[in-house]
Amino acid sequence: MTSALNKKTVVVTGASSGIGRAAALELARRGANLVLAARRGELLEEVAVACRALGVECRTVVTDVTKRDDCARLIETAGDVDVLVNNAGFAIFDAFEAAKPDDLESMMQTNYFGAVWCAQAVLPQMLARRRGTIVNVASIAGIMGYARMGGYCATKFAMIGFSETLRDEVLGRGVRVAMVCPGTVETQFFVKAERGKMPGASRLVLAIKPESVAKAIANAAEDGKYRRILPIGAMAFMRLKELFPRFAHVLMRRVSSMMEPRR
Ligand SMILES: NC(=O)c1ccc[n+]([C@@H]2O[C@H](COP(=O)([O-])OP(=O)(O)OC[C@H]3O[C@@H](n4cnc5c(N)ncnc54)[C@H](OP(=O)(O)O)[C@@H]3O)[C@@H](O)[C@H]2O)c1
Repeated sequence: MTSALNKKTVVVTGASSGIGRAAALELARRGANLVLAARRGELLEEVAVACRALGVECRTVVTDVTKRDDCARLIETAGDVDVLVNNAGFAIFDAFEAAKPDDLESMMQTNYFGAVWCAQAVLPQMLARRRGTIVNVASIAGIMGYARMGGYCATKFAMIGFSETLRDEVLGRGVRVAMVCPGTVETQFFVKAERGKMPGASRLVLAIKPESVAKAIANAAEDGKYRRILPIGAMAFMRLKELFPRFAHVLMRRVSSMMEPRR
């Protein structure tokens, strides 16, 4: 069956590695023409070569999403955009008292404002055509706050707040806003983020492959569904958190304290 993404133009930020790279390949398999963005041009070009080999058109635009002008240029180069995937992001985990102000600022600039600048650049043309989908790659760290991950959680809470708001604002005007919220994913993300700093209980959830998230992103690009949380264990825990927030936090703290040496 032909995908709804066949011959559509899809922009993916953070496509040089991990989830973004896997998403680009999955979208290419579904026939989408791609415009890939990230700062590392050589890696981006390698991903583009692999996408073109799947029979689609693929361009690369070296982009730093913290720069508003770069985001505007990315969308301008892409032309008529059917889908924007806001995926670029990173984390540095630290207890709040130890967190470096520069790290906190730079995470917010990349994870939150990067998505905001790209969305602001693409929205006018989507609204004018009354067609388009924005897929924001958030995280379960945007649904529940985790100890020692505060700076990162704040960026993803911000992204979810912005996604929910925008979704309601554009409802009925042809534009859809969808969120994909993964748990732990096996990528280069943890070179900077250090998994060992996460609360013990959160490390119990097995890491999934970027290809699974890529499928969720491509499905979101096709159907515009409000929110996808994966894997299923993470989804169940997020449901618990939303229904019984205090209980979920007590459980997280208790299990973590059993797994971690006393401070
Ligand atoms: N891995 C996880 O466990 C996990 C879980 C939930 C959500 N996520 C989210 O998934 C997204 C992708 O992460 P990942 O796991 O795939 O990590 P990754 O392999 O480290 O990839 C991060 C991507 O973001 C790009 N990026 C970072 N800063 C950028 C900037 N200023 N401008 C443009 N691109 C930038 C990087 O490209 P360049 O360095 O080339 O610019 C890279 O392509 C992030 O938003 C992350 O928060 C990850």
